[in-house]
Amino acid sequence: MPFTVKDLPYPANKLAGISEKTTTIHHDKLYAGYVNKRNEIEELLKTADRNKAAATFSEYRELKLEETFNADGIILHELYFATMGGDGTWKEENAFVKKATEDFGSFETFLQDLKACGIAARGWAVTAYDQTDGSIHNFLGDSHNHGGVWGATPVLALDAYEHAYFMDFGSDRKAYVEAWIKNVDWAKVESFFTAVPGI
Ligand SMILES: [Fe+2]
Repeated sequence: MPFTVKDLPYPANKLAGISEKTTTIHHDKLYAGYVNKRNEIEELLKTADRNKAAATFSEYRELKLEETFNADGIILHELYFATMGGDGTWKEENAFVKKATEDFGSFETFLQDLKACGIAARGWAVTAYDQTDGSIHNFLGDSHNHGGVWGATPVLALDAYEHAYFMDFGSDRKAYVEAWIKNVDWAKVESFFTAVPGI
């Protein structure tokens, strides 16, 4: 079954500090490109020669590597777009806010860690609930298919690639992270968090 491009859940000009041009290119070109490439790879995998599989180089290996790059590119971008469009305010009584407060000592400490993660990442800062220790973590990934923790369920994603901010903020990733956090829809994060099995 081919993967399809999901619409932006809000108009491209809705975000504060992140321009319509950036969001349009990000969604319509880059994210859509991952969806198209994933479909292309899945088609090519149907006929790739398994007998020539090799770890040094083989068509099969290259396809399998790019399969996870594009698959994770789709998953993380859909989470990134889905968890923006808010006004950055949160409700103390929400389960996610309570849990993050419990795990980090305060919600402000959690936010500080999330922003530091976005500034330190070359690709992604991903907030996830890790069932192995029953805690919320901010995980760092230098590319789509790097930094994942098996079993952890992502509930919020910050795209820290330069394409997400360079047109609006130049090389000032910190200013972009500050703008991004003002766009977070914490009600969406709450809905993803409360849908995690075992919560
Ligand atoms: Fe991106």
